[in-house]
Amino acid sequence: MNAPAPRGLLEPDPDTQLNADQSMTARLRGTDASTLKRDFAQQGAFLYLEDFLPPEVTAQLVAGVEAVKASVNRNYLPGHKQGGSVSRHTIDQLAPFIAELYRSPALIDWLARLCGESLQVSPADDPHAYALYFYTRPGDHIGWHYDTSYYEGRRYTLLLGVIDQSSCRLDYELHTREPEVADQPGSVQIPPGGLVFFDGDALRHRITPLGENEFRVSLTFEYVTNPNMRAWRRFISNMKDAVAYFGFRQVFRKLLPAAKRT
Ligand SMILES: [Fe+2]
Repeated sequence: MNAPAPRGLLEPDPDTQLNADQSMTARLRGTDASTLKRDFAQQGAFLYLEDFLPPEVTAQLVAGVEAVKASVNRNYLPGHKQGGSVSRHTIDQLAPFIAELYRSPALIDWLARLCGESLQVSPADDPHAYALYFYTRPGDHIGWHYDTSYYEGRRYTLLLGVIDQSSCRLDYELHTREPEVADQPGSVQIPPGGLVFFDGDALRHRITPLGENEFRVSLTFEYVTNPNMRAWRRFISNMKDAVAYFGFRQVFRKLLPAAKRT
C-alpha cells in the first residue's frame, strides 16, 4: 500500500476538521437558540456566554497561541490602542485548527440563527477574518470603538476567550445607535472558552488596560452578510489594518515577494 502524500501547510487536516465541527455540533445540539436569539435582539445585537467552547476546543486554541507567539505584530497608537495581533494569514500557516473552527458549519449555522441573518466567512484577503490578540505588556488595551463594517453588508464579531491571566475587562454600551432606547452600559471579564457575539456597528466597546505581570489572549472571528466591498473602502480598511493591527507585510502580502512574507 502506498504511503499517503504529505499535506501542505494550508491543506486541511481531515481529522482536525472533523474534530472542530463535530465538537461544535455536539456542543450546540442542546442549546436553546430561540431563547438566546431573543436575548441577542433585546440587548441590541449583543450576547455574552461565560461558558461556550468545549474544553477540548479551548485547549486547541491555547496550543495555537503557543504556535504563533513568535509571530505577533505589536502596535501602539497613542490614546487608542496598544497590543499584539496575529492575522489569519499567519494562523493559516501555524495554527490551522483555528481556521477549521472558523469555518465550522455547525458554528456558523448557530450564529446565523442567533442574529437572524445568513452569514458568510470573510473574503480570503481579509486579515481580520480570524485573528488572535495578545495583551502581554502593562497598559496593553484598546479604547472605545465600534467594529465598523467596511463591507456592503453587516459584519458580526465573535470574540472568544483563550487565555486570561489578567484583570482586563470588556466594557460595552448597548443601544448607542438606537435613539429610542436608553444606552445600557455593561462590563464582563471573558474567561477561556467564553463567548461574546455582536453586530460590530452596534456595540460600542473597549478592553481595559493590562496590569503588571498579567497576560491575556483573545480570538475573534468575523462573519459578513455581504462580502462585497467598494475599492475606496477596501483601501481605508487595509490601511487601518496595516497601521493598527497586522503590519504592511501581512495586509499587502500580494504585493510582496513570497520570500518576504511572514
Ligand atoms: Fe472591537
